[in-house]
Amino acid sequence: METSSFIASKASPINYSSTWEAPSNIALIKYWGKHEPQLPKNSSLSFTLSSSKTKTKVIFKPHPKNEIDFEFYFHGIPKPDFKAKLNSFFDRIHTFIPWIFNYRLEIHSENSFPHSSGIASSASSMAALSLCIMDLEQQLFPEIKQAYFFNKASFLARLGSGSAARSIHGPVSLWGKNKERKKSSDLYATPFGPSLNSVFHDYQDTILLVDKGSKKVSSTQGHSLMHGHPFAENRFIQATNNLSALVPIMEAGALDDFIHLVELEALSLHAMMLTSNPYFILMQPNTLAIIHKVWEFRKETSVPLCFTLDAGANVHLLYPKQNIELVHSFIKQELSCFCQNRQYLFDAVGTGAKKV
Ligand code: DP6
Repeated sequence: METSSFIASKASPINYSSTWEAPSNIALIKYWGKHEPQLPKNSSLSFTLSSSKTKTKVIFKPHPKNEIDFEFYFHGIPKPDFKAKLNSFFDRIHTFIPWIFNYRLEIHSENSFPHSSGIASSASSMAALSLCIMDLEQQLFPEIKQAYFFNKASFLARLGSGSAARSIHGPVSLWGKNKERKKSSDLYATPFGPSLNSVFHDYQDTILLVDKGSKKVSSTQGHSLMHGHPFAENRFIQATNNLSALVPIMEAGALDDFIHLVELEALSLHAMMLTSNPYFILMQPNTLAIIHKVWEFRKETSVPLCFTLDAGANVHLLYPKQNIELVHSFIKQELSCFCQNRQYLFDAVGTGAKKV
């Protein structure tokens, strides 16, 4: 699908209210580096989570003022500080939803995970909001097909935050044109498809909260430091090759190979940060302590436990459901001491966004 196929027509306004829940996601092949309009330099692949999610309700009221008009509430409290981010989102998407100028929007959003957990909510919140917008578009244009609905929701979410494109479908989502999937696109994410090995349908993700503060360098700043980065072009090739290698591994359920690529990707992402100019480090000493402990545990027990990292100090521990008991006691006894206030969150791979 081309960008132009996502441009809707104008339509007479109706009163409508829509509520969607969209999950957070954790990338296994990382998106790090982009160009306008929010297009990735390499394709990425992620687990869609289940418990970490955003619920958004949008009340659309007819209001022909010819400007985007909205109020934003977070956990019931008006949040005017979020307006700038939402305004730039609407600036990016209004061409594709010209009917929006006939409405006043009341946006109510809440996250299932603690606000100051260091878990980024932009992916789940942009995805949930985009789905509410598409829900109204579906009412205005009932001929819209399901595939178009979800592709456009992912397309709109991408324009809010790149990784949000992957917060629509579960259990595994791919964003960015790649040769493993004919239907893949830089414009929106697509599901991995039925060839995913069953071990990954209920894979576990425990998020160890090493640093719950806000990040010193935002993802958006980090992406922009990939422009002119001496290793950028090779990194994009590496990620592309890693994705091509990971797809058959995830079809076969080959866990040793899976672990190797997932950890390689996590450390390659942080290597880009270490070698940016200006350079920066988002890992903390406890992040490294946990990584070493995971390696020791894996060597001693042969349990296929591995880690990945996002753009922060927290560690995502990934493991098959059948290993829950051993891994949970390992986390409690040996890893919780590295977490802020001994806090960690249990999550697992989920099925994707849902209408409430
Ligand atoms: C390290 O999607 O947060 O989590 O597009 O600027 O909003 P923007 O960035 P964002 O970047 C995510 C970076 C990452 C890797 C990933 O999720 O693929």
